[in-house]
Amino acid sequence: MPEVYNWQLGRKMLYPYEERHPKWQFAFVFNINRCLACQTCSMADKSTWLFSKGQEYMWWNNVETKPYGGYPQFYDVKITQLIEQVNPGGQVWNVRVGRKHHAPYGVFEGMTIFDAGAKVGQAAIGYIPTDQEWRFVNIYEDTATSMRSLVEGIDRSGFSRDEPWRLSGSSLPEHETFFFYLQRICNHCTYPGCLAACPRKAIYKRPEDGIVLIDQNRCRGYKKCVEQCPFKKPMYRGTTRVSEKCIACYPRIEGKDPLTGGEPMETRCMAACVGKIRMQSLVRIGEDGLWAEDRWHPLYYTIRVEQVALPLYPQWGTEPNGYYIPPRHSPRGYARQMFGPGVDNAIEKYLVPSRELLAVLQLWRASQQIVFRYDVIPGPKVFETQIHGKRFEMYNDTVLGFNKSGKEVARIQVEEPIYIRPAERVNWL
Ligand code: SF4
Ligand code: SF4
Ligand code: F3S
Repeated sequence: MPEVYNWQLGRKMLYPYEERHPKWQFAFVFNINRCLACQTCSMADKSTWLFSKGQEYMWWNNVETKPYGGYPQFYDVKITQLIEQVNPGGQVWNVRVGRKHHAPYGVFEGMTIFDAGAKVGQAAIGYIPTDQEWRFVNIYEDTATSMRSLVEGIDRSGFSRDEPWRLSGSSLPEHETFFFYLQRICNHCTYPGCLAACPRKAIYKRPEDGIVLIDQNRCRGYKKCVEQCPFKKPMYRGTTRVSEKCIACYPRIEGKDPLTGGEPMETRCMAACVGKIRMQSLVRIGEDGLWAEDRWHPLYYTIRVEQVALPLYPQWGTEPNGYYIPPRHSPRGYARQMFGPGVDNAIEKYLVPSRELLAVLQLWRASQQIVFRYDVIPGPKVFETQIHGKRFEMYNDTVLGFNKSGKEVARIQVEEPIYIRPAERVNWL
């Protein structure tokens, strides 16, 4: 089987196809800390693409409650267990190698779904969920659990114990429970498990933007994609007998929506987000297959420069292009299992953001058009304090966002402006 380079793992890994990369890659950052689980994103997606017969149970976008929730139920626990069965106790990161451009999180020394799949004669290890497991889009909604029992459980699986609730800076009583929301769509992975699995070669990755699609004419409903996508994002439709998945709203990305006059537009689920937790863009891929350096691109800056956003389950090996600002109030061991060893750095950066990061974070949901570049106009200092013993200064900078053609599409200040309603407008309807 060929070997490909996975920069999130800092090493080469097995993959059924030779390494090939698109010119641009669809990518996004979700800020877990801001999500309110209103499911507006899920409904935006449902009402756009998923309202027909045979699609009743489909949610290409879903928001689930961690640690217990999942759609389909327990998908991540089951995938992790399947890999563990082939490679017991081996999900280890070597972080001593230091942070390099091509290995920012260290080197993963365990097995990916492809490594484990090779051991059992499959493209990737996986399973097909039962109908019952797809029943609830947010099962265990808002169900909290004790940190102590969970952390002790994680301790037994080799993660070091820490006390994240003490890092929160809170002086409130410590009730030691937590939950958080995980927002999920297809990650349009660099090395998709679904694409690797399909015996009909019906799944392809677009060279222009890296979006992963199922060719509805080629698909014959073998469901290997459903089985071998670890994120469980392809879904089988009984009425057509073919599978479907998130299409990254590609007509909007192509600028086909009349609203933007031909400019690339964010997807439906991103644009609808009430909590302003989502930002999406296209990142340029260099000759070497890595992200080309693009210092003034908001996602390059957030993911590669500040490293405040991390991939979901990078150890599975698909190099997902969805990134998350990890939850600051969950046990660190639990968050590290989900987002890898970059979690501590990411949370520290988020809790005490640099002047530039604070400005760039204002761009989340500032425009329906895709932002390809940002700039910051310095403003006056408005506030200062200490957070966890570190000095934090807030400046009322103005951040600008530019679309693909270089036109300004967003201008927003760090400090929220206050509008005082004129006297004659009090209680005016
Ligand atoms: Fe394929 Fe799953 Fe990756 Fe989407 S998340 S590209 S369906 S492997
Ligand atoms: Fe649906 Fe578009 Fe979001 Fe994919 S990107 S989940 S198709 S709204
Ligand atoms: Fe292939 Fe999945 Fe269709 S495996 S044939 S794309 S159901």
